[in-house]
Amino acid sequence: MADQVIRENSMTLEFLSLPENVGLARVAVATFAAQVDITLNEMEEIKVAVSEAVSNAIIHGYDGEPRGKVRVTAERDSSGLTITVTDWGRGIADIAQAMQPAFSTDQERMGLGFAFMQSFMDGLEVTSEPDQGTQVRMFKKYKGERPGN
Ligand SMILES: Nc1ncnc2c1ncn2[C@@H]1O[C@H](COP(=O)(O)OP(=O)(O)OP(=O)(O)O)[C@@H](O)[C@H]1O
Ligand SMILES: [Mg+2]
Repeated sequence: MADQVIRENSMTLEFLSLPENVGLARVAVATFAAQVDITLNEMEEIKVAVSEAVSNAIIHGYDGEPRGKVRVTAERDSSGLTITVTDWGRGIADIAQAMQPAFSTDQERMGLGFAFMQSFMDGLEVTSEPDQGTQVRMFKKYKGERPGN
């Protein structure tokens, strides 16, 4: 990574809110992320964060029904990788509450999706409007010198 020249690049992926598309998004973003030299561990963290955000869009944004569009973008510059996951679904009324670890509106769930995104990425921003949709923006920094990498 230290001497690597990182070229800017971006991609957009759009799909319907079907559960099988979680894997599609994860693989697409992982392949994009792998175009530069990152560690296996960083790759795993990115995959989990993308899976959690896309699962939320499908499960919560559209109540698990295949009626909505989900958009995933990935952009890289020399400082890092920015991933956005957008839905046009139900939205979140209280974002701060939703982001608290172990908070879920579904009793069957752990409420840990946002906690994973927060701890695995270097930045997390959520914007949402009830009945308009939700956008999750995540940033993963490219580390500088990493001996042993
Ligand atoms: N895209 C979204 N649209 C609407 N509501 C959302 C969205 N993403 C998250 N939420 C709300 O935020 C809450 C917390 O999300 P989080 O991912 O942390 O937990 P969870 O999805 O409930 O459980 P887990 O991710 O552990 O299965 C959800 O229960 C839901 O109410
Ligand atoms: Mg979740």
